[in-house]
Parts: sequence; structure tokens; C-alpha cells
Amino acid sequence: MTAGSGPTLAVVGATGAVGTVLLQILSHRADIWGEIRLIASPRSAGRKLAVRGEQVEVLALSEDAFDGVDVALFDVPDEVSAHWAPVAAAKGAVVVDNSAAFRMDPEVPLVVPEVNPHTVRIRPRGIVANPNCTTLSMIVALGALHAEFGLRELVVSSYQAVSGAGRAGIETLREQLALVAGTELGTSPGDVRRAVGDRTGPFPEPVALNVVPWAGSLREDGWSSEEMKVRDESRKILGLPRLPVAVTCVRVPVVTTHSLTVHARFQGEVTVDGAREILATAPGVVLCDDPAAGEFPTPADAVGTDPTWVGRVRRALDDPTALELFVCGDNLRKGAALNTAQIAELIAAEWR
Ligand SMILES: NC(=O)c1ccc[n+]([C@@H]2O[C@H](COP(=O)([O-])OP(=O)(O)OC[C@H]3O[C@@H](n4cnc5c(N)ncnc54)[C@H](OP(=O)(O)O)[C@@H]3O)[C@@H](O)[C@H]2O)c1
Repeated sequence: MTAGSGPTLAVVGATGAVGTVLLQILSHRADIWGEIRLIASPRSAGRKLAVRGEQVEVLALSEDAFDGVDVALFDVPDEVSAHWAPVAAAKGAVVVDNSAAFRMDPEVPLVVPEVNPHTVRIRPRGIVANPNCTTLSMIVALGALHAEFGLRELVVSSYQAVSGAGRAGIETLREQLALVAGTELGTSPGDVRRAVGDRTGPFPEPVALNVVPWAGSLREDGWSSEEMKVRDESRKILGLPRLPVAVTCVRVPVVTTHSLTVHARFQGEVTVDGAREILATAPGVVLCDDPAAGEFPTPADAVGTDPTWVGRVRRALDDPTALELFVCGDNLRKGAALNTAQIAELIAAEWR
């Protein structure tokens, strides 16, 4: 850091789906940074992107690009982070990594500022990990309920937006929607698949006019990598290494904002009024729960906003220790870029 200015920040992956939102967020939050340096692949070198109202030229990723960098935010594919995050850390930057490369490394904290901010200081590798977007879309609300009631079990289903698969996911849904718009498709078996052909992008099936019970890659016994991430990362963030977690991840034709249904069992009896009070006052959570008035969160309303939105709060019909919730969170904001920016601000505070 140079005297008289804030820390130097690098955004690696500045041109991607998460990087684009991160630049908007950095432009709107308190301006605590000195230089903000933008980095992407050599394909993007020389492009100019707006941040804090200025056009900044994108540099190609290289060792030299980290010269003088204090904090480096990585929003790139897993294998790029796995190689380059240690390079940036060795050059003295504190890395905040948004990929899956380091999340389960015991020497790398997995941080959600509203839930476990103290863990950010213990980073022997100089790397801090940002959780995956599906976990992040529910964990702020769950962390608040856990602090009061003591979580004992989680059963969740996700309804994940296509932007969770990056720019390619967004482009694929838009292309498929153009192919099916104004048609009678969706009325006979296979008609949508025939119209879409091989234009399925990063998804195994058409996502327009459809829901796809799959996200990520195949793991043992039929589980998907996304489902394993939700289980493993929730356990690590909440400090509950043996928490029973059952997850089914589903892709839906929504551009941005993940939703989840959550069945959460606690150590004793819970009341809806008690849960509502906690959720209504928890930082980063908005309670939107009046079904009689037609009020509950949906991705169409939550997109582009920062909080975790919670609605449909009910006590389980057959278990007085369990709650049912519906949760929405913008996967590119709290699910990725916003949480990264919040972690970076915690780290920057160490310089003050
Ligand atoms: N999308 C989400 O909801 C979400 C949420 C949480 C975490 N994440 C994670 O965040 C990371 C970025 O995701 P995304 O959705 O933003 O992906 P994306 O839209 O595909 O963008 C990828 C970014 O990485 C850069 N990149 C790719 N290969 C590179 C290389 N070899 N060297 C340097 N830069 C390279 C790209 O630069 P070019 O433009 O130059 O190719 C682009 O800036 C991933 O690890 C993802 O798993 C995503």
C-alpha cells in the first residue's frame, strides 16, 4: 500500500458474470481502495471497463500483474484460481477466491461476514475462500436461526438461476427463449429438446420451458458436485462438521437469483413468531412473508438486490423442532461478488 492512499485491489476475472457485478458493487460501496487493477485472460487484454466512474484497461493475467497488489479478488474458473491464487499470495497479496479450488482446504477460511467474520484473520496460505452461490443464497438466514435455536439437520432443494453457470449460462437461456418464444412448444414429449437441438450450452438438457434436476458434475453415488458443495460448505461455515444435510439442486429458467426451499430442524421446539423476530432483525436478511396478501420473495423481485429474502416461514406440520422456509438471494451479488467485496473490506480494515 502506498502512503496516503488506500490498499491496491486487483479484480481477476473482471470481464466475467461475477466480475461484471463486482465492478458495479465496488463503484457503489464506500471507496476505500487506492488503485483498482482489472485482470482477465489474454483474450480481454486492452479492453476498457468502467469502475468508480472511470474507464480502466484490462491486463492479461501474469505474475507481474500482481506487483504492489494488497488484496486480489479471484472470479475465474477453478483451475485458473488453483494455479494463480498461490502466485498472487506469494507476491504478498491477500487473495479472496470465489472458485471451488480452496474452499474445503483446512488452511483456508470460508467466510460469510454476517456469520463467521472472525475466521478471516486465520489464513496461513494468504488465501480466503468465498462460498458457492447456492450455499450463500441461504446461509445468512440460516446462520441467524442457528445462533438462536441450534441447527440439527437441513433438507434443502434449490431452484438455481442460469447465471450460476456464468456468461455461458445466461447466453444459453436467452438463445433458447428466442427459439421457443411464440410457439406452442412444451405440449408433447421431446418437442422442446428438438427445437433447442445441441444448443444446451453448459446444461445437460434444455432449460427454457423446463426444470433440470442437475447442477455441476457427477460425484459418488449419484450426487452432483453442487449438492456436495452445499453440504460441505454449510458445515464448514456454521462450524458443524457432522450436520446431516440432504440437498437436491435443480436448474430453472431464471436469469439471476437462486431460490431454495429449506427444512431446518433445531435442537428444541421452535415457534414461527420466534423465527420471524430473528429473521426480521438479522443483518442482511429481509423477511417478506404475508401469503394472505400474496407477499413472498421471488427471483423477479430479489434480483439486483443485496439481502437474503425469506418468506413462507412455517413450523413443520409433524415436527415442532423444525421450520420450513423459502429463500431467495441474488447469486451474483450476495451469492458471489457482494460477499467477496465484504470479505475484502474486512481485510482492508486490518490496514487501518
Ligand atoms: N456465476 C455465479 O453465480 C457464481 C457464484 C459464485 C462463484 N462463482 C465462481 O466464480 C468464478 C467466475 O464465475 P463466472 O460465473 O463469473 O464465470 P464467467 O462468466 O465464465 O467468467 C470467467 C472469468 O474468468 C476469466 N478467465 C477464464 N479463463 C482465464 C484464464 N486462463 N486466465 C485469466 N482469466 C481467465 C474470464 O476472462 P475472459 O473474459 O478474458 O475470458 C472471465 O473474466 C468461477 O470459479 C465460479 O465457479 C460463480
